[in-house]
Amino acid sequence: MDKNTLLNITIGDLFLKHPYTKDFFIDHLIPFEGHENYSINKLFEVIDEEIIEDKAINIELFINNILEYIDLMSSYFVSENVVENKVTIFPGTYKDGTAETFDMIEISKGEIISIVGPTGSGKSRLLADIEWAANLDTPTKRKVLINGRVLEPHERFSASNKLVAQLSQNMNFVMDLTVEEFLDLHATSRMVEDKDDMVNKIFAKANELAGEGFSKNTPITQLSGGQSRALMIADTAILSKSPIILIDEIENAGIDRKKALELLVTEEKIVLMSTHDPILALMGDKRIVINNGGIEKVIDTTDEERNILTELESLDDTMMKMRNRLRYGKKLTFKEDL
Ligand SMILES: Nc1ncnc2c1ncn2[C@@H]1O[C@H](COP(=O)(O)OP(=O)(O)OP(=O)(O)O)[C@@H](O)[C@H]1O
Ligand SMILES: [Mg+2]
Repeated sequence: MDKNTLLNITIGDLFLKHPYTKDFFIDHLIPFEGHENYSINKLFEVIDEEIIEDKAINIELFINNILEYIDLMSSYFVSENVVENKVTIFPGTYKDGTAETFDMIEISKGEIISIVGPTGSGKSRLLADIEWAANLDTPTKRKVLINGRVLEPHERFSASNKLVAQLSQNMNFVMDLTVEEFLDLHATSRMVEDKDDMVNKIFAKANELAGEGFSKNTPITQLSGGQSRALMIADTAILSKSPIILIDEIENAGIDRKKALELLVTEEKIVLMSTHDPILALMGDKRIVINNGGIEKVIDTTDEERNILTELESLDDTMMKMRNRLRYGKKLTFKEDL
């Protein structure tokens, strides 16, 4: 939201559009009750000088802060006005400038696609191309259509209107909120019916995913990398209406990857994840193989591979149990029934 828009709408409309701003007014002790049909400037005209001085309210600063706050919140809260759900990728170039040879890749809702390839080959780059709906204007020169069309500039770059939820480990929380406040704000902004129930659900899921539990009163800035990742995954899975979920390197965050993936994948969504992990790679319906910056091929997961996946999962289970025994200070023995 820009400053002009903010100054021209009524406070009531602001609360409707961005429900969390109401708390912002309350936190800053701005008496707005009964003046919901005023603009911000008009409100400050009618507030008693004394109150303004008393509470040390700086109007200019308040307006700037609220603008920043709206920007920040909007970047976390994805809009939900999407009905269809399809991603189309057209070829661009490898790192050395030669053309990619596939015709076109089309991904529909309900599909899980993994992206594999050596370190530095361009997996994150492909995710970024999709996140920003590349239009010949990224290093790969790829073109990506969302629901069959090139996105308008405002759809591509407006944080508040993202069609894509990108999960990366560093959430960069600058807000000084507790876990509960954060979830509460998010649920409010979504205007969900049973807010408390939703908050509890997300909180419980996040704790299930994170190894070490955390409480609702934990400030989000104090969560560990894995915990904040778990919170964002649970939050995205349960609350986000974003139809396309991009996951970069879920395995590095120390959370239960399989559970996380199961939670994120619903029939309505497209999930693309870059991974070095054979289990996650095989959990996809297809995998995109990247080399030297280019998409080399797209492979359908075979039946034999699905059988191998079952075997890998059981090995992984053993690994996880051993990891947990080590984490909690136990010794490993051959006799242990793992
Ligand atoms: N087709 C391309 N043309 C030009 N540059 C590219 C291309 N593909 C990738 N790059 C660049 O190569 C670098 C490495 O790519 P990227 O970070 O996507 O690798 P990665 O596969 O995600 O590696 P890792 O497994 O380590 O996460 C980036 O700077 C990226 O922008
Ligand atoms: Mg990467």
